[in-house]
Order: sequence, then C-alpha cells, then structure tokens
Amino acid sequence: MNILILGSGGRESAFAWKIAQSDLCSQLFIAPGNGGTGAFGKNVNLNPNNFEAVKALVLKENIEMVVVGPEEPLVNGIHDFFLADAALAQIHVIGPKKEGAILEGSKDFSKQFMVRHGIPAPVSQSFTTETLQQGLDYLNSHILPIVLKADGLAAGKGVVICETVAEAQEELKLMLGGKFGNAGSLVVIEEYLTGIELSVFVLTDGQNYLILPEAKDYKKIGQGDSGLNTGGMGSVSPVPFADEKFLNEVEHSIIIPTIEGLKKDGIDYTGFIFFGLFKVGDNPLIIEYNCRMGDPETESVIPRIENDLVELFQAVADKKLMDYQLNVSEKTAATVMIVAGGYPGDYEKGKAITGIDNIRKSTAFHAGTSLEGGVVKTNGGRVIAITSLQDTQFEALQSATADAARIYFDGKYFREDIGFDLI
Ligand code: AMP
Ligand code: GLY
Repeated sequence: MNILILGSGGRESAFAWKIAQSDLCSQLFIAPGNGGTGAFGKNVNLNPNNFEAVKALVLKENIEMVVVGPEEPLVNGIHDFFLADAALAQIHVIGPKKEGAILEGSKDFSKQFMVRHGIPAPVSQSFTTETLQQGLDYLNSHILPIVLKADGLAAGKGVVICETVAEAQEELKLMLGGKFGNAGSLVVIEEYLTGIELSVFVLTDGQNYLILPEAKDYKKIGQGDSGLNTGGMGSVSPVPFADEKFLNEVEHSIIIPTIEGLKKDGIDYTGFIFFGLFKVGDNPLIIEYNCRMGDPETESVIPRIENDLVELFQAVADKKLMDYQLNVSEKTAATVMIVAGGYPGDYEKGKAITGIDNIRKSTAFHAGTSLEGGVVKTNGGRVIAITSLQDTQFEALQSATADAARIYFDGKYFREDIGFDLI
C-alpha cells in the first residue's frame, strides 16, 4: 500500500526509515519531510495542517494509510476530517480523533481525566481570567517551586516553573493576559515534582495496547542538564532505572486506567499515547499525555522494535492489536541531537552540513535539514539526530557521541554527556 507520513522532524525520519523497510509499503511519501527523508520516499512540500492539501495528495497518489507525526494536525481534527469525507473515510489515519487528541490539546482536560480515573498525578488546580483573583490567592499558600501550564498547545513553551510566589503571580497574569494567545486562556497550577523523568509509549487500537520501549529524553541545552529547556537534546532506550517492577507499576497504575478511562468516557482512541512520567521514590506519576510519539525519543524507540511497523499500524486500524506481540531488541539505542548554534534561542539556517557519510556505527535521522542543489543544509534548531543501536549501553552512548562529532556545520553543537548519567 502507499503510505504518507505527515511531519518533518527526526521523529518522522525514524518512522520513514522503519516504514520503508516494510514489505507492506509500496510507495512512501513524507510531507513535508526534510533533507534526509528523500532517501526513504518522496518528499511532498505541503503543510500538514492544510487538510485540503493533504486530501489532494492522498487522492492523487492513492495513499491508503496516513501516519501523523506531530500533535497539531491531530488536535485540529485531521482524523475526523478524513472520516467525514466520503472519498477519504476508508483511509487509515494513524493517530487519534479530536476527542482523543484533547488529552494533549487541553492540559485541564487531561488533569480532570487523571483525577476522574484515579491516575497518580501531581495535585493541580485550573484558573481563568474570571477566577484570576482565586488563582493569585491559591498561589499565596502554594509550596515552592510552582509549575504553571498553559492549557492549550503552546509550541512546547507553555510550561513555566516559578521559584517564588511573586514570580508565579506575575506569570499567571501574563498567561491569562494572552502571553500564549488562546492556549493560555486557562492555566493549570501544579505541584512541582522532584524525581527523575522518563517517557513511556503505547500503541492502541482503542481496545488493546502494546507497550513500546520506554525512553529517557534530555531536555536541557547544556551538559549536566543545565541551561534552557529545548525540544530534546538526546534520548536513550531502555532506561536502566525503569526496571521490571517499576514498569509493571506504570502499566497497572497509569496505562490500564488510561485505556479503561478512555473507554468509560466513550472516547475511541487509536494511535500512540505518550505518557510523560516522573519516578518519585519508587512510584510513577504522570505529568502529561501526548497524542503522538516523542521527539527525540522515537529515534531511540523505533530502532529497538523488531516488528513490521506497518503491520502493527494495520492492526490498529483493523482493531486487531490483540493478535500481536511486540518484539523488542535487548540492545540499547542512544540518540544525540546535533543542534544549530544559539538554539533554543535565535539561530541561523542555511549552513552546509558535511561529514554525514563519515558516521560509522549510527544512523543519521535528519530533523531540521533541507536539500538544496545536492547540498544538505541546516533548516531548523534541531538539525540531525544521531542514533546508535549497540549491545551495551556504554557502546551505544559512545558510538552515538563519537558519530555526532564526525558531522560538521558552522555553529554546530551537541551534548557529549547524553545517557552517561545512567551508567
Ligand atoms: P512539557 O512542556 O509539558 O513537556 O513540560 C516541560 C518540562 O517541565 C517537563 O519535561 C518537566 O521537566 C517539567 N515539568 C512539567 N511538569 C512538572 C512538574 N509537575 N514538576 C516538575 N517538573 C515539571
Ligand atoms: N521529547 C518530548 C516531546 O516530544 O514532547
């Protein structure tokens, strides 16, 4: 069958790499894709949020399956758009409908969902402009630090951690005042957790689920987890501190209540669920849901999955996931993200990239790159994810880091310490 992947990051590159290996895939399209995805299929330059453009492509190229990488088209209802159109209704969309994507699209909804279904999460309360004064009073007696979250999608910038009450009160006013546009018209004030973070993923057909390999994401720009938050500077899978007992607890206290909760609420959820977790002591707590895979976690998770991914996607669409088991490699995958100088602040684009052919023990998953006249150039903040799959964790970390050093462009930066804290 012909398959379309929507998106342009390292996550979509990893999907494209994997899907291109499937015997079930005839022709692969990536829209818009990046400077590397052309190696796995045909790039088509369109905006995934332009559903009419997606429709035209799907009909023109006889596409039968659409894999949605980022959250925005899902939260905007791309799956519903397909179902509502007679010409598209039979096409498999991998990703939830709007009613399911709201788990990511509204933090207030997801917090209420967690409470309603008894899923362990930090204590929180939500406020709007109408209840601003109650919010300011609530902050007065809050323990420090305090986490403020814009309710809606805010391009990964909607979470602010405040060290003082005054700072939190100021931030609450700014958010409700429109700092993040409509996304901040409702703000969740949340208890700050001290623990260690990890990402757990499931693929579900709404009835059954497969738990994918877990991963740890490194969000800070600087070595030793210092400096500003980014979209992710690297990832590792498996996560040593997520032992069998802990993952069992995650399944029973978080995953099962989520799948059952969706059913109880009458939400027919198909696709990926990303559980953003904290391990506090020995216990898992959930800080967020995403309705898609993580980036750069996908670059470490996908290489460990030995199944044919298209077969699993087909099973999701047919609601037959119960007939499948996941085969996961025992090896470790490590991903080091090479970024543009200045990221996550201002950075330049259009720098020629060399050395990609020199990497020895890794795969280069392009993220923010473009291909211009045969030259690969930088085209975003996160430029290339270097993933190495090796027998031991140490080898994987070392190979990914060494191969990241073999790539060059003006202003290039990467963290040399990704994953070494876990050893
Ligand atoms: P998000 O944009 O929702 O992924 O959140 C960004 C980051 O903020 C997370 O990856 C955490 O590191 C941090 N964070 C979010 N919620 C909390 C919390 N309740 N306690 C501590 N840190 C948090
Ligand atoms: N790596 C975190 C995310 O994809 O949101």
